[in-house]
Amino acid sequence: MKKMLVSITLWCFASIAIAQHHESTKGINIIPIPVSVQEGMGSFTLLPTATIGYTPTAAVKEIAQQMQQKIARATGFSLAKSKGLSNATIQLQILTKRDTVLGNEGYRLQVTPTAVIIKANEPAGLFYGVQSLWQLLPAAIESKTVVNKMNWKIPEVAILDYPRFVWRGLMFDVARHFFTKQQVENYIDEMAKYKFNILHLHLTDDEGWRIEIKGLPRLTEIGAWNVKKVGYFGTFTPPKPDDPRNYGGFYTQDDIKEMVAYAQKKFVNILPEIDVPGHSLSAIVSYPDLSCTPGANTYHVRSGEEIMDWSHGAPPIALIDNTLCPANPKVYTFLDTVFTQVAKLFPFPYIHVGGDECPKNFWEISPAIHQLMQKEGLKTMEEVQSYFEKRIEKIVESKGKKFMGWDEILEGGLAPNAVVMSWRGMKGGIEAAKMKHRVVMSPTTFAYLDYMQGDSIIEPRVYATLRLNKAYSFEPVPDSVDSKYILGGQANLWTEQVYNTRHLQYMTWPRAFAVSETVWSPKANKNWLDFVNRVEHQFKRLDIEQVKYAPSMYDPIFTATKNAEGGLQIELATEVPNLQIHYSFDNSFPDQFYPVYSTPLTPPEDAVMLKVITYRGNKVMGRMIAMPIKELKKRAGIQ
Ligand code: ACM
Repeated sequence: MKKMLVSITLWCFASIAIAQHHESTKGINIIPIPVSVQEGMGSFTLLPTATIGYTPTAAVKEIAQQMQQKIARATGFSLAKSKGLSNATIQLQILTKRDTVLGNEGYRLQVTPTAVIIKANEPAGLFYGVQSLWQLLPAAIESKTVVNKMNWKIPEVAILDYPRFVWRGLMFDVARHFFTKQQVENYIDEMAKYKFNILHLHLTDDEGWRIEIKGLPRLTEIGAWNVKKVGYFGTFTPPKPDDPRNYGGFYTQDDIKEMVAYAQKKFVNILPEIDVPGHSLSAIVSYPDLSCTPGANTYHVRSGEEIMDWSHGAPPIALIDNTLCPANPKVYTFLDTVFTQVAKLFPFPYIHVGGDECPKNFWEISPAIHQLMQKEGLKTMEEVQSYFEKRIEKIVESKGKKFMGWDEILEGGLAPNAVVMSWRGMKGGIEAAKMKHRVVMSPTTFAYLDYMQGDSIIEPRVYATLRLNKAYSFEPVPDSVDSKYILGGQANLWTEQVYNTRHLQYMTWPRAFAVSETVWSPKANKNWLDFVNRVEHQFKRLDIEQVKYAPSMYDPIFTATKNAEGGLQIELATEVPNLQIHYSFDNSFPDQFYPVYSTPLTPPEDAVMLKVITYRGNKVMGRMIAMPIKELKKRAGIQ
């Protein structure tokens, strides 16, 4: 049975069954794709008379209650709890004899014409079985109000499923823009449905300190607030001295406890990140003594104005000093206080200490840093950062936690037990794994959800692009490393350019589907075309749930080149199959009656705009894109 793949015969079998299904339940379209799916010919229909039975533990009862609530919300049925387990219509069963195939998070889900039975070793497995069950029900199960006259049919099926990796993460940056506890909990709801189990909260940065620390009140009185601005973050005009600093917020320790408890009910662990020694302006503004630089007491929490010069590459040149001072004993006392409280608030065994993008130019001119270098025999600024990381590793470990940081912590020598989160590609992760350190892969190349997911002419502008198909090709285990060191993978959503939750959702879905399948499903089950089909089914669910997603995969890809005569040649392509691209050069809005793109285009002499839109038959799929010819010429290197 182990790793049984969805075979050709199974698909034939499935397609026979499809023909008999009600439109909204046809096929099995689960994301992430399970280890194995065997579809039968029959179906189960959820009726108001169905009962729920479960192994009587608090954790399983909680899962059963979540089920009852969701079923009631969409169907209006209030399902009764059955007295026994084996006579219930829906059964949530913890196995008394451990099933070694399933591990801690796997499950077996069986749907017959008369019952739905989910079995697992642990409550987490039952929870994931339930998430798959939702995706077997009609999309209307996601409705927030009762849907009448629905046939709540589920295809007959036997599913065996368990995750490929223990670390299935999403990072949510609540520092650049603050998101409330409720908004974070909503995000947890969404991620848990796709079997993510780690929410990495980026809690501190130059723009805000988001967690109450007792005894350090200025962190949240001063450090959590900046000036509200909109536009292209990073290029804002510096705030005026009297601009109100009332934009931001923070989580009280009670908020954190509630969030952690909420996440636990969804089998999500929260990984806290306190980003030091760079990205620390909010802490420095609150407590200027933490800086090596005189004059830090005149700084303000960043509101999106430029504070780094990236023109020379990494590390950046800081225009103001946003780093903690590794030569200052007060910094370690401060971090001891912070990590003591963070360790108590978050039960997850890891604390992430950041370590990324730490500018060194202020350290270079600091007498205190030079004294430290002499005393400790440190030769480079990277070794200064490494000295700092090793000291804070000891602090983090003294609180009973594991120390984790971005891959910059490798520079100048890795702390002895550090776990590395590789973001600048896979390189840092490979290096750390070869040194027998554990690694989480979250490379920009495949897993940065803040990047644009389509052409910059239509997407909100960010400095890089990550299309869905590229995200889907993410493989966390490089050939050159022993897979036992790779804990898993993670997608990161930085929020410099994300001002609200609708856009947060837009940036997350569907790319997080791609990452969820990478970190949960067997590598051999991944298939791009099949995935796209399932994504389209998930879109219907998100529509009903009123969760926003990016339709970018339906938008064409433009390639502009110079032809042999030095003129412009335009090629159009689509990321997903079965789309026609209709276009115009006459400024009017193309629809399905306009020419269909088939071969490379040369624009008419005086054309100023290429307008494109994709259709599937008569159904509009993509967005109208107006691409200036001037822009295409620029891309092709034509003056
Ligand atoms: C990062 O993206 N600076 C970790």
